[in-house]
Amino acid sequence: MKIAHFSRWGFLMAAAGAAVGLGNIWKFPYVAGQYGGGAFVLVYLLTVVFVGFSVMIAEMLIGYLGRRDGVGAFEHLAPRHKNKWKYAGFMALFGTLVMFYYSVVIGWIFHYILMSFGTLPASVPEAEAIYDQFIKHDIWEQILFHTMAFLITTTVLVRGIKGGIEKFNLVLMPTLILIIIGMLIYAMNMESFAKAVEYMFVPDWTKLTSEAFAVAVGHAFFTLSLGMGSIMIYSASLPKESNLVRASLFVITTDTLIALAAGLFLFTFLFQYGAQPAKGPGLVFISLPTVFHAMGNVGNVLAVLFFMALAFAGLTSAVSLVEPMVQYLIDRWNMSRFKAAVSMGLFFYFFGIIAILSQIESTSALFSCGGKTFFDWMDYLTSAVLLPFAGLLMAVFVGFIMEKERVASVLKTQMGWFYPIWRFNIRFVAPVALVFVMLNLMGIIEF
Ligand code: TRP
Repeated sequence: MKIAHFSRWGFLMAAAGAAVGLGNIWKFPYVAGQYGGGAFVLVYLLTVVFVGFSVMIAEMLIGYLGRRDGVGAFEHLAPRHKNKWKYAGFMALFGTLVMFYYSVVIGWIFHYILMSFGTLPASVPEAEAIYDQFIKHDIWEQILFHTMAFLITTTVLVRGIKGGIEKFNLVLMPTLILIIIGMLIYAMNMESFAKAVEYMFVPDWTKLTSEAFAVAVGHAFFTLSLGMGSIMIYSASLPKESNLVRASLFVITTDTLIALAAGLFLFTFLFQYGAQPAKGPGLVFISLPTVFHAMGNVGNVLAVLFFMALAFAGLTSAVSLVEPMVQYLIDRWNMSRFKAAVSMGLFFYFFGIIAILSQIESTSALFSCGGKTFFDWMDYLTSAVLLPFAGLLMAVFVGFIMEKERVASVLKTQMGWFYPIWRFNIRFVAPVALVFVMLNLMGIIEF
């Protein structure tokens, strides 16, 4: 197998780049807002610590020991029934489906970066009108920006692990972190900061429905990039003798801190200017621009920086969503990296256009069914079904199927006293949590 190696920092930044994405800065604040703040955040944090951390180590382990594409890794590590476990590897290739809508949202962000240089909308109705016009009517503009997202992602993937993914992340991630820290410091000097802290950290239990609970657990997996092979394929390129536990800790800490920081400064800005926190997906595209408008010229600078950070976060994750398929085509179908990256690029590019058309007023009916647009279906299918299911298979594989000694030989010394806890988490806590998420989000159980 011809797998390139990351440098130590290269891996950490790439894995953190995979994790930190639209999920942290766009999705987390709006779902936290929709489900009432504090209690949601607490469930999310507990899941990250008690389940996400353990599953991330497991996913890294499969990649690290497998040293090849996801399907091959399962096949290689399964002690028996290799032919069946290979399908668990296939499950972990579906990340590209997330890209069907992810790339479109990155396109929206490009549009908002440009908009931030000019006049921002002064009121919510005005901002809503601009957003609606763009999403529901501007086909060509959306396709243009989606094309940009496709071109950047595919170029990075064509250049490979070292020259592409590693380099890209080593530049974008530190810049992103600096912008987020800067925004947070700016927000800390505002009066409403205390209110934002209260909103995010004081739980209101009455808001914690079973759906909120499932969404919080599901989001913890999504934001950590678990279950879809991103972390696994990067780990196949880990330098030898890497400490998986420390690497996982780094990734989950970075991911969580960035989500919390983003939530804190966004809510501070919103409260300071009297905007609503529970705005749904339009939070950063509708409420936030009006806040930046109210800030005057400083607002334009902040808006440009904010949407740039969001684009960086999105692009580094986008690359990680497609790389598992690219490596699969290279390993299994003997494709050159160029061919593999370009064909996968065109694949998500095409379905991205369908996702765009499914939201355009005049074509929406053609690309919708069961009351959901294609765009919403992809979001739903990936986060409610594919991601928890593939995550579940990984947990079961590492917890019950792989030879115990093989797992222990890598992790026992790296973990010490935590090892039995980790094993319990991976065998029991993670599967129960993931089955719960699936059943709840599919509408099968509720309480
Ligand atoms: N974690 C990224 C985000 O928060 C998205 C992402 C990248 C992802 N790779 C993934 C989600 C793999 C699930 C699985 O936006």
